[in-house]
Amino acid sequence: DRKIKIAPSILSADFANFGAECEAIEDQGADWVHVDVMDGHFVPNITFGPAMCAAIRPHIQGVMDVHLMISPVDPYIDAFAQAGADVITAHVEAGPHIHRTLQAIRAAGAKAGVALNPGTPANVIEPLLDMVDLVCVMTVNPGFGGQKFLDMTDKIRTLREMIGDRPVHIEIDGGVDPSTAPLVARAGADVLVAGSAVFKGGSVTNPQVYGDNIRTIREAAEG
Ligand code: DX5
Ligand code: ZN
Repeated sequence: DRKIKIAPSILSADFANFGAECEAIEDQGADWVHVDVMDGHFVPNITFGPAMCAAIRPHIQGVMDVHLMISPVDPYIDAFAQAGADVITAHVEAGPHIHRTLQAIRAAGAKAGVALNPGTPANVIEPLLDMVDLVCVMTVNPGFGGQKFLDMTDKIRTLREMIGDRPVHIEIDGGVDPSTAPLVARAGADVLVAGSAVFKGGSVTNPQVYGDNIRTIREAAEG
């Protein structure tokens, strides 16, 4: 179904309070929790790993959507699956064997996602259309929250055409807010990651702001 899902990224959350933050965004309407794993090698930033995913798992009732900005990917797939990741997304740019990586993610029991950086064309996923449950279109260069949105409308439209009626989500990641959400939804996206646009101005002691931000993005996307 192409119902819009909002997936707040905890990269913009309080790093000293992840469990409470996950509960707060879910209470305030988040559909998925987007977990940005960074290794300081594939991207110029370091966040957290499988142990943190396992720690927050009990605080997430819904989908834990793990975005691996790491290279290599394969040695860590089982650890993230055991930590409770429902979706594990790997970057096509992270190594030479994305086909094998996606097989390994599904073999580990998680749904498989493939992420494309802004410089990577849509057609690279041609051979992977039946290997993935999700395509993540980066609309920023990965590594940080709060960056400026890069318009990937044509790429999203091309992907939606390639996917056809396969049950594959198109997830948009980076710079999503009430002004950019309608563009990507109209082009065919159905999962919208948002970090700064959800967490800005709120806190676990003032979570209503999260709810307002999530609602505003959702309403903008649904038009
Ligand atoms: C960037 C991450 C994104 C980021 C989104 O490398 O993959 O998920 O946290 O943050 P905003 O929504 O603030 O651009
Ligand atoms: Zn992400």
